[in-house]
Amino acid sequence: MNAPFLYSQLVEDIAAAIACGSLAAGSRLPSVRRCAAERGISFNTVTMAYRQLEDRGLIEARPQSGYFVKSALGQPAQPLRHSPATITPTRESEQLVAMVLAAQAHGDHVNLALACPDGEHFYPADKLARLTAGLLRRQPGLVGRYALPPGPGRLPQQIARRGLALGMHLPPDDILITHGAMEALQLALRAVTQPGDTVGVESPTYFNLYPLLVSLGLKVLEIPTHPQTGLSLDALELLLAEKRLAAILAMPTVQNPLGCTMPLDAKRRLAELLRQYEVPLIEDALYAELQFGEALSPTVQSFDRDGWVMICASYTKTLAPDYRIGWLYAGRFAARVRELKFASSIAESALLSEAVGLFLEAGHYDSHLRGLRRRYAQNIDRMRGLIAAHFPAGTTATQPAGGFLLWLELPPQVDALTLFHAALAEKIVVTPGNLYSSGSRYRHCLRISCCHEMNERFVAALRRLGELAQAQASGGQPQIQ
Ligand SMILES: Cc1ncc(COP(=O)(O)O)c(C=O)c1O
Repeated sequence: MNAPFLYSQLVEDIAAAIACGSLAAGSRLPSVRRCAAERGISFNTVTMAYRQLEDRGLIEARPQSGYFVKSALGQPAQPLRHSPATITPTRESEQLVAMVLAAQAHGDHVNLALACPDGEHFYPADKLARLTAGLLRRQPGLVGRYALPPGPGRLPQQIARRGLALGMHLPPDDILITHGAMEALQLALRAVTQPGDTVGVESPTYFNLYPLLVSLGLKVLEIPTHPQTGLSLDALELLLAEKRLAAILAMPTVQNPLGCTMPLDAKRRLAELLRQYEVPLIEDALYAELQFGEALSPTVQSFDRDGWVMICASYTKTLAPDYRIGWLYAGRFAARVRELKFASSIAESALLSEAVGLFLEAGHYDSHLRGLRRRYAQNIDRMRGLIAAHFPAGTTATQPAGGFLLWLELPPQVDALTLFHAALAEKIVVTPGNLYSSGSRYRHCLRISCCHEMNERFVAALRRLGELAQAQASGGQPQIQ
């Protein structure tokens, strides 16, 4: 058979499989190499066919992951903040955070808000419990003293070893174990700012950063952030040139709530800007090991030569939120954060950090992470499919590069806070977009977590949420169930 025929045959076969649903939205196509081998055709023929399917809008190439059947659901294409702005958190925004947290306290509600895996398959609780108990039996003395530096070194060594996969060369002795990532962020901020200083953040950003920054007497400057490529470096460079920022706090790899990862060149340029303007970046890499791509995108820290990047993460999302084990490598500010840690909480539990260290050392973590990534990627595809089917026309949702968070932009007539209350009345909890910035910019947005078992109850809740949004979008009243 001649090549053009083989090529159009492959295009039509795949298009037909997509049309009849046997290749569902979000499913991955065989790699070019595998498809060529399976069909006994050339590499070029498959590449051409995949390109044509891409041009027809049926499939998409995801960086370092391969080709996927495209969902009918569009992605947000523009930042909703177009220029930087200083944010003044209000009493109202604090109350909003408190209200959403209180809503999550109801055990019988379906929680689409909580960014913490929920269900027995997400955490290796049994293995960790066995390791912790064994450690305590063998070394009861661990609980009888402070784990002051240099302290037990297993965990810092494992963190440094794992950092290599993200392009980092972190000296284990300079890795500080912290009380979750939140304490790491706090120590890093305190090391490089004074009350009254301004810190640049992405917009939208993780909502808990606002109370943290305000409690340290810091001003918050929101920087436009593209839903697919992250922080706008042009906007950032202007602010740096005007000397308006004492520090930047950002998530360049799998951002919360957008799920985006900055392209490699942008990360490199960001590291260069930090060096040029001598401004520290506090890089929150909490989700960096949950990237979906086969090759992990390196951190901004991996491009840093002069210690301007302070990087932190924790094991909250992948191992054990209750252990509260996080870490911070503070580059040129390492000595200062060590002093601050001593003054704030002295040290972390040696038992718990050693148990995490043992878990990592035993080699369980990579297979655990592979399982998590697979599960989250599936949940996200399933969730995007449900959103496409049940949410009002015009709704878009991000296609995250990792993690388990989806950011939705609903038609402008939908008010996310009204939707929050309507959903809460039906025992469904979501996080309204208003949490991720002050003001009304994100008032028609939602963040939804996909880190739960996607059972019938969960799917029914999402369907109902879509109906409630639909009723608002068409100006009607939702039917009471
Ligand atoms: C981006 C980001 N940073 C930090 C944290 C806090 O992490 P930890 O529980 O380890 O303090 C979270 C929790 O959701 C988060 O999403």
